[in-house]
Amino acid sequence: MERTLVLLKPDCVQRRLMGEIISRFEAKGLNIVGMKMMHVTPDLAKQHYAEHVEKPFYPSLESFITSAPIVALAIDGIEVIRVMRDLLGATNGCNAAPGTIRGDFSNSRQMNLVHASDGPEAAARELHLYFGTGDLCDFDHVT
Ligand code: CMP
Repeated sequence: MERTLVLLKPDCVQRRLMGEIISRFEAKGLNIVGMKMMHVTPDLAKQHYAEHVEKPFYPSLESFITSAPIVALAIDGIEVIRVMRDLLGATNGCNAAPGTIRGDFSNSRQMNLVHASDGPEAAARELHLYFGTGDLCDFDHVT
């Protein structure tokens, strides 16, 4: 069993797609063990996107991710890091395959609705940015 960090980004919240997208995670059999609606501060954005801070698109990315609330989710599942990225589709919504979340709802590279950790180390680091000790609810799910 793995755990990943997912963010429903400002465009997802503003377009009222939270329920639609969370339904896809649940339909896939993934287990939500943490959920928090919050604003991303510029400081948190720089920590979360540390690998992108020097890139030309970073100022625009920070402006976007701090522009409205996000929902942070901690999600468990077998191979969930890969499974989640498969559900989301390509980073750029223009290139994402139909049937994926971005393929069905996004036509943008920046406003791509959802972030998901890209590997185990990123997942561990990112989960700690959004959730503290005691914030997550481990429980037995029925199948
Ligand atoms: P995400 O999965 O959150 O990880 C980094 C984010 O940066 C990515 O989704 C996009 O929202 C954004 N991004 C990546 N490349 C570009 C780009 N070339 N221009 C603008 N935004 C980008």
